[in-house]
Amino acid sequence: DPDHAIDLALFGALGDLAMRKLFPALYHLDREGLMPESTRIMGLARQEHDVAEFRELVNLALQKRLKKDEQDAESLKRFLNRLDYRQLDFTKVDGFEAIRQWREGSSQPMVVYLSVAARIYGDICRNLQASNSVSENSRIIVEKPIGYDLQSSIEINDAIGDVFPESRIYRIDHYLGKETVQNLIALRFANPLFGTQWNQNNISHVEITVAEKVGIEGRWGYFDEAGQLRDMVQNHLLQLLCLIAMDPPSNLDADAIRDEKVKVLKALKPFVGEALGRDVVRGQYIAGNTDGKSVPGYLEEEDANTQSQTETFVAMKTEVANWRWAGVPFYLRTGKRMPEKLSQIVIHFRQQPHYIFDPDQRGIASNKLIIRLQPEEGIALQVLTKDSGLDKGMRLRPGPLHLDFNSAFPKSRIPDAYERLLLEVMKGQQYLFVRRDEIEHSWRWCDQLIDGWKKRETPPRRYPAGSWGPVASIAMITQDGRSWYEDY
Ligand code: BG6
Repeated sequence: DPDHAIDLALFGALGDLAMRKLFPALYHLDREGLMPESTRIMGLARQEHDVAEFRELVNLALQKRLKKDEQDAESLKRFLNRLDYRQLDFTKVDGFEAIRQWREGSSQPMVVYLSVAARIYGDICRNLQASNSVSENSRIIVEKPIGYDLQSSIEINDAIGDVFPESRIYRIDHYLGKETVQNLIALRFANPLFGTQWNQNNISHVEITVAEKVGIEGRWGYFDEAGQLRDMVQNHLLQLLCLIAMDPPSNLDADAIRDEKVKVLKALKPFVGEALGRDVVRGQYIAGNTDGKSVPGYLEEEDANTQSQTETFVAMKTEVANWRWAGVPFYLRTGKRMPEKLSQIVIHFRQQPHYIFDPDQRGIASNKLIIRLQPEEGIALQVLTKDSGLDKGMRLRPGPLHLDFNSAFPKSRIPDAYERLLLEVMKGQQYLFVRRDEIEHSWRWCDQLIDGWKKRETPPRRYPAGSWGPVASIAMITQDGRSWYEDY
């Protein structure tokens, strides 16, 4: 479809994200026939390379990332041939002339991708404008983190907004590109079975876990300034929460969905007074074991400041204070160096009000909807059935109705989040991207929490690498008579 051919100008083309995620994603789009013939990609970075060297670097990155059966010589060649490269100092306008020249005579929209630190977003935007490289159909993609708090995010958004209107800004939260995250929308709004149940009358509580096995992976400097709340909750977890909690949008238009998400963010209860100590747990990992190997603690990682009080784990109990959700706790937790990589949402339904079975079994697991984002994408609905066997009487047994995407649809490869997101930008569709007011409301909520932490000055609680976090995060939920759900 020639309609969505673009000229992609990729700033930070030799960076980690580009090599690890963006080039593989672009390659897959090309290989699947989703990249129009005339699409061109310009890599931009500080280092000096000619085009051939740049193509070779990308080639090596692809060989490393792609599975054997995903590499075919013809697709690789076609893809690499689309790539061009210019060395550029992003903070100086002089070099930007090269972008204007590259674009001369091209009628396809330019998409600028900023895969660089947010503090230079402003410089790049100004230089693009001053060099006359942008036109009225140019789009821009920006990566998180957009700022460090509300104030800095406003400044960054203003700098981008001076050059690009909101309708052409694509703020990435890569969780929105994950297959199962989109399935949340399908599940909730295509199935009356769930749609009608989705409120405080029928749901007792919601859990969101985003656990990572990895530690800091050589990013100590960045991470230590941010911490797990800014790095994961401000964006990914709150986006998941919004998709679970939002009211049905009247259609699938970007703004219809984003209006509903914003209402959720505005309704999130702030943590004040006692709630700060009671409903939030900050943690930091100490040395421990993952996969039977001993691993260092956060303060012993490369480049670490041994006095750091930054959290690598956070658990919290929050509430969406509105008609639909009043009184329903949302338990969130996310951390580095946990026993496994696991992202999962669990919707717990209320118990059957009139109970006629064995009194011993009262309180046996109630219905749960488990939405597994990773590792194996799938959905399970836990239901109660009769335990089989002649001697069991009417004993109940909980068991899952399972939909595992890999085995249910074995032929279809589950695309990486970035493939879908890049395709949406090519098509000019914004519903999987974060609007300015979403970012700002979510910062506002995080800022009040961070301010509260600062005033209390309590150090993070320690947890051994390879565990599920500080004991207090388990106590936080067990004192409500519940537990974190780790099965599937
Ligand atoms: C990024 C965070 O946004 O998401 C990282 O900056 C984190 O710290 C990563 O590791 C997790 O993404 P995924 O897709 O592996 O769950």
